[in-house]
This record gives sequence, C-alpha cells and structure tokens, in this order.
Amino acid sequence: MTTPVVQLQGITREFSGSVAVDAIDLTVERGQFTALLGPSGCGKTTTLRMIAGFLPPSGGTILLDGKDATHLPPERRNIGMVFQSYALFPHLTVEKNVAFGLRMRGVPAAEIRTRVGEALELVGLAHLARRKPKELSGGQQQRVALARAVAIRPSVLLLDEPLSNLDARLRIQMRQELLRVQRETGLTTILVTHDQEEALELADSMVILDRGRIVQQGHPREVFRAPATRFVAQFLGYENFLDLPGRGRVTIRPEHIEILAPTQKPPAGGEVVDATVTAVRFRGTDFAVTVTVGDRTLQAVSTDEALRPGASIRLHLPLARAVPLPGDDADARLEPPDQQECPA
Ligand SMILES: Nc1ncnc2c1ncn2[C@@H]1O[C@H](COP(=O)(O)OP(=O)(O)O)[C@@H](O)[C@H]1O
Ligand SMILES: [Mg+2]
Repeated sequence: MTTPVVQLQGITREFSGSVAVDAIDLTVERGQFTALLGPSGCGKTTTLRMIAGFLPPSGGTILLDGKDATHLPPERRNIGMVFQSYALFPHLTVEKNVAFGLRMRGVPAAEIRTRVGEALELVGLAHLARRKPKELSGGQQQRVALARAVAIRPSVLLLDEPLSNLDARLRIQMRQELLRVQRETGLTTILVTHDQEEALELADSMVILDRGRIVQQGHPREVFRAPATRFVAQFLGYENFLDLPGRGRVTIRPEHIEILAPTQKPPAGGEVVDATVTAVRFRGTDFAVTVTVGDRTLQAVSTDEALRPGASIRLHLPLARAVPLPGDDADARLEPPDQQECPA
C-alpha cells in the first residue's frame, strides 16, 4: 500500500462562529480522480483552499504525501490549482503564464522552456503560445490555466469548478479533455463541482458533501445505484420518494415508472395505482410527465404524444426497481458513510 497523496483528518473550518467545514476525513490515493460534489455553500471551496494552504483550518490535520502539512504555506506545498475564473495574468503571454509557477520555483530557464512546451502540447495550445489571454476563448483560457497548473508537476491537482464558466456544449467537450489530461499525466486530482453529471463522468471516487459534512462516498456507479439518503438521491437526480409498507423509504427513477395504456395488462410484479396527469413537458426524445397519486406527486416518462394534463391514467410501479434509502438525512450526518447500512 503506497502512502495516500492527501489525507484530511477531522478538518474543520469556522467563519465567525459558523461551521463551513465540519470534521471532514478524506483520503486521496495516488493517481485517483476524486470529485467533491455538493450544492452551493456546502464547503467545497473552503476544503480545497485548506488543502492548498490558502486558508488555515480551525481544527484537524492535513497530511500531504504522508507528512503533516497543516501549517505549511502554499508555496511549500506542491499543489497545482485551477479556478472557475481562469485567473490568468492579462499582461503576460500564454507561455509566460504557464512559465510563471516554474519561475517562482527557481526552475532553470532551459527546463522552463521544455516544460512549458510540453504543457501547452498536452492541452493543444502550442500554436497560441505568444497570444495574450484576452485573445483567447474561454475554453482556451481554461486550458492555459490547466497547463500552468500541470507544468509544475504538482503532487496533487486541485480544480475548483473549472468548467462552470463555459457554455453547455464546451463544458461537455472540456470534461473529456480534463479526463484525457488526467489520464496522460497520471496526476492525483481533486475536482470540486456542483454538477453531478460532471462528477459521475470524471471521477473514480465521488464524495458528497452536505452542509460541511461528507454524507456519502464511493465509486460514482456505487453511489448512484445506492444513494444512502434522500439528500444524496435528490442531488443525483432522483425525484420520486415513496414510503412503502415494510420497506421504508425508497426511490424509483421516473423512467422506470410505466404509464399503462387504457387496456394494457400491467407487467408482473409491482403495483398498479390510479393517477392524474398534472403536467407534460416535451424533452425531445420523450415527455417528462408529472402525476398525482392521492396527495403525492410523482415523475414519470412517456413517449405518448396524446397525453394531456387532467388525464386519468394508471401507473405501474415496479417495486423490484425501488432503491432503498437506508439512512435518514439526520442519521447520515451523524455517522461516517462506511458505518451506514448500504444495500447490495
Ligand atoms: N471568507 C469567508 N468568510 C465568511 N464565510 C465564508 C468565507 N468563505 C466561505 N464562507 C462560508 O462558508 C460556507 C461554505 O462556502 P464555500 O466553501 O465557498 O462553499 P462551496 O464552494 O461549496 O459553494 C458558506 O456558507 C460560505 O458563505
Ligand atoms: Mg465554491
């Protein structure tokens, strides 16, 4: 077992009496791509800033490569960082921006030239080395920021919502770009994001934060298939929450709920309930359908062009597809995730 690159032990940060990060324990192994995922204000940036050394923790210990770095200044931690706002120097060319961290570290000029060349090659910007940031698109500027962070050969790369200033199409393209750079360099990476798709697509370890605490962590597929709590499930896009007699609280994905045609025989297993359509939204390949069942609102999916609000329908709820939510949100906040009962 090699030493983890980053270990947070009970890391806490308060701001004038209110707790932004609450006793976080986190281990990041070498070469791992970890995503810290959670809604705005849950403490993601504060956690990254403490790892980078920009913000002292109020309590707890930070180990970098196995050594206590809790009180080490940022320049003595070998960390590369990319921010949401690219934070490039506007008066410096692309290559000088990328060279900056190397100069600060006293790397010899010839070595700087080689490394800057390699880093720009890696992000596909070698041909724009003499441009100034304002002569580049947002996506290109973010690649420069990435090249600058990678050029110092950091032991860990910290990315704080690096794609959220880009438009939707570019953001999805850049995800793949990020993944390629991470795989080619093998850099240990921590990505902060509020975008669950980004975390699911990129990370090999996903850590979900709620109000300064870790509520679940694991491989993205594992967490997605077995969210521990309603908060996690909702954050990952689950919309239907039901309390089933004998089974407790469960969630069923909208695409698993079938709207039965008037004479259709329901599939075996599960339950059939009467429902009323309250809204139908066209989404391109299908319709998102909101229905009420008694006093409960559920989301379903349909390809039926004729479905209209007000229609009385029958729904098939495939209970075999129901995902149990074993942890109540209050409980989940009291126990570390590995002690929670997780369904197989
Ligand atoms: N410098 C600061 N001073 C006071 N409160 C802060 C400061 N930085 C962050 N906070 C508070 O800490 C909490 C977590 O913030 P942050 O880590 O930026 O969240 P996230 O990055 O997940 O959106 C928020 O309630 C925020 O208002
Ligand atoms: Mg933030």
